[in-house]
Amino acid sequence: MIIGIIGPSMTEIALLLREMKIEKKFTIAKTLFFKGMLRGVKVVVCRSRDGKVNAGLATRELIARFGAKSIILNGVAGAINPNLRILDVVISTGTQFHDVNYTRVGVPLSEYPNLRIAVYQANPPLVRLAQQSAKKQPYIRATTGKILTGDQFIASPIRKYLLRKVFHGEAVESEGAGVGQASFLNHTPYVVIRSVSDLANRVAPIDFRILVRLAAINAQRVTLGVLDEL
Ligand code: ADE
Repeated sequence: MIIGIIGPSMTEIALLLREMKIEKKFTIAKTLFFKGMLRGVKVVVCRSRDGKVNAGLATRELIARFGAKSIILNGVAGAINPNLRILDVVISTGTQFHDVNYTRVGVPLSEYPNLRIAVYQANPPLVRLAQQSAKKQPYIRATTGKILTGDQFIASPIRKYLLRKVFHGEAVESEGAGVGQASFLNHTPYVVIRSVSDLANRVAPIDFRILVRLAAINAQRVTLGVLDEL
């Protein structure tokens, strides 16, 4: 069984590529795909680039062209839950767009007029595998909850407070619900594994720049652990 693993940037897949036996590399529409073996599992690791469109396209490509039967999105995020700390890991129960708003035509927040879904539910067995993987790494603090997605970098305490209040999310990023939507439409299980690179506050751009590599490693460690559990 082939597992598709997505990271938006090279930083978010660097450890996976280092650990992987790469058999073939593909470039499709400026998106990179590395096919090979990782921890004894057949995988295609993809560098999708940022944002929901790229995440959706990468997911579709992994499923339709490479035959992926499950999708793991792995990377960094900003914390929305005030109890989260930098480098914590967040595992998705589901994903939701925070920047999709058709309420003026009577459609609830986060839903599209012709795709009436607000939360794309992650696959419970994959969630459990991610939790087990995180638990085996004593220095990683992991939380499970909803991950919010929008094509914007959140760096404001007010925005952070409102995202928490309106959507009840744990963390915010730019790809999760794109992967969730494409996985849902293609009947493919998925999970998101993110590590906190910043607290989505005023200093988030600075924290992100300094901590993105360390956070990305934590998320990839949990992803590697999932493959070990399979
Ligand atoms: N990815 C990492 N930190 C983020 C933030 N604060 N907002 C959006 N995406 C992020």
